[in-house]
Amino acid sequence: MLGGVLAAYASAIDPDEPLRGLTVGEFPDPEPPPDWITVQVRAATLNHHDLWSLKGVGLPAERLPMVLGCDAAGLDPDGNEVLVHAVISSPDWRGEPTLDPRRSLLSEVHHGTLAQRVAVPAGNVVPKPAGLGFEEAACLPTTWLTAFKMLHVNASVTPGDTVLVQGAGGGVASAALQIGAATGCRMWAVSRSDERRRRALELGADAVFEPGQRLPERVDAVLETVGAATWSHSLASLRPGGTLVISGATSGDAPELAELTRIFFHQLRVVGSTMGNLQQLRSLVQMVEQTGVRPMIDRVLPLSRAAEGLAALQNGEVFGKVVLTP
Ligand SMILES: NC(=O)c1ccc[n+]([C@@H]2O[C@H](COP(=O)([O-])OP(=O)(O)OC[C@H]3O[C@@H](n4cnc5c(N)ncnc54)[C@H](OP(=O)(O)O)[C@@H]3O)[C@@H](O)[C@H]2O)c1
Repeated sequence: MLGGVLAAYASAIDPDEPLRGLTVGEFPDPEPPPDWITVQVRAATLNHHDLWSLKGVGLPAERLPMVLGCDAAGLDPDGNEVLVHAVISSPDWRGEPTLDPRRSLLSEVHHGTLAQRVAVPAGNVVPKPAGLGFEEAACLPTTWLTAFKMLHVNASVTPGDTVLVQGAGGGVASAALQIGAATGCRMWAVSRSDERRRRALELGADAVFEPGQRLPERVDAVLETVGAATWSHSLASLRPGGTLVISGATSGDAPELAELTRIFFHQLRVVGSTMGNLQQLRSLVQMVEQTGVRPMIDRVLPLSRAAEGLAALQNGEVFGKVVLTP
């Protein structure tokens, strides 16, 4: 392609039918500002974030067109195999990047990774783990990093702890199941479908439950990405003093009951969690290398079929990650 790259980008916002605003076609080659580099993308993955963007959540129409995609694995300008970290801090921010009020994720302010090439700050890459192919490695920087931080930073679980994961089929949820199982936690999972409960067991869950089902005992931590639909069950499932970590609300952010009494009476901790920092991404890479755990890939599609992958994600037909290769 002369003078451009193949990219999947938001060309319009449609809150009801987000895929209508998706265009896959030629896009201008990235022009990295000073201290940024261009990464040749070998694999990128889809996240629910891409659907939110097409709905206009975090992406106002005046920023269009915007290349979608938060994470990627590829080659830096020297040919090194790298992972791209999606959190972009403002230039003068010196603290924890995910606490910068002006931070953004790739595809919110700067073009994202669903393209043959992406520009990122030079400091936003880490070496790809040698034992993983590009497709597996591309799953790590967003979904897997989010799950890793929820479990090992914000829930602070230790081996032997029992952790309940809501919505087992989701990208973050399935990653959390795999990470928890690989690091010695007793992982319990909730899913709406028999098939997904069966697959959660294959991924390493020790027990699976239907939505709202009473558990055999209360758990040390719950990981939430489903939101309103599972909120009450999550809080009812925690032992006194237990921790609920929430990083998403796919089913909505207004639960019927806020469960305030339960939270104070049982002294529960409710912790919000977003992405992770570069050091946490390095720790995740090390954990993956040491344990041999590998991201669960639902399907690999060429970038030109991005719409098909996003439709599957939107329809809840995905178990694990959808990978796109340019
Ligand atoms: N804060 C961050 O840094 C961060 C990072 C990544 C993702 N997220 C957010 O986390 C959320 C999860 O994203 P994801 O890509 O992992 O997965 P997802 O595709 O949004 O799905 C999550 C799972 O939730 C369950 N679910 C969905 N709708 C439901 C409903 N109405 N009732 C009950 N269960 C329902 C489904 O599980 P079952 O079918 O198995 O029941 C589904 O697989 C999204 O909202 C995303 O934006 C946040």
